[in-house]
Amino acid sequence: MSKVVVIDHPLIQHKLTFLRDVTTGSKDFRDLVREMSMLMGYEVTRDLQLRDIEIETPMGKTMSKTLTGRKLGIVPILRAGLGMVDGILQLIPAAKVGHVGLYRDPQTLEPVEYYCKLPSDVSERQLIVLDPMLATGGSAKAAIKFLKDKGAMNIKFVCLIASPEGIEVLKETHPDVDIYVASIDEKLDDHAYIVPGLGDAGDRLFGTK
Ligand code: PRP
Ligand code: URA
Repeated sequence: MSKVVVIDHPLIQHKLTFLRDVTTGSKDFRDLVREMSMLMGYEVTRDLQLRDIEIETPMGKTMSKTLTGRKLGIVPILRAGLGMVDGILQLIPAAKVGHVGLYRDPQTLEPVEYYCKLPSDVSERQLIVLDPMLATGGSAKAAIKFLKDKGAMNIKFVCLIASPEGIEVLKETHPDVDIYVASIDEKLDDHAYIVPGLGDAGDRLFGTK
């Protein structure tokens, strides 16, 4: 069963308030998405494995911890997921980055795939899928299925804001995928936008409309 982790750290919640604010412009919006993603990255990477190695400090030899285990892959769902990549890469610069391009058809609300480029060893990596918004769950559900079809076996999903409906869809379709989120909002509106949400994440990140 999926674990749903709501990351309620005060710094993340503070930044989320400014992210939601309709008067926040694209530059600040991008900065906030990057900063929140980095802070959330601490929680998402909490279970990374460590091993002891011997090192020498100026005071002598000691055993110390270093990362080991499965290599990481970051997979933003285009476009809006791109805004979260740099924050995570600041924490784990050695991670490879794959891309899955999906957009939500405004009429049918179904995800349409238009791009995919992944690391060749995707089945051996712990993948962290990024998208700021989990609304109907259609895009995340399709992107994760797509990754599994390409061989991915270890996937976490990280978003900033989710709807209760989106969380349920993802839990049902991909029970092996843990979900990390800064806020589970109230509901979806008639156009499947999250309320109160923050509007259209891609448009706010890139200044389009
Ligand atoms: C947004 C968002 C998610 C999707 C969420 O992307 O970034 O990918 O909608 O909605 P869902 O859970 O109902 O599928 P959008 O399709 O607007 O594309 P964009 O990132 O290119 O703006
Ligand atoms: N996509 C967004 O960018 N925002 C929403 O509220 C729903 C889907």
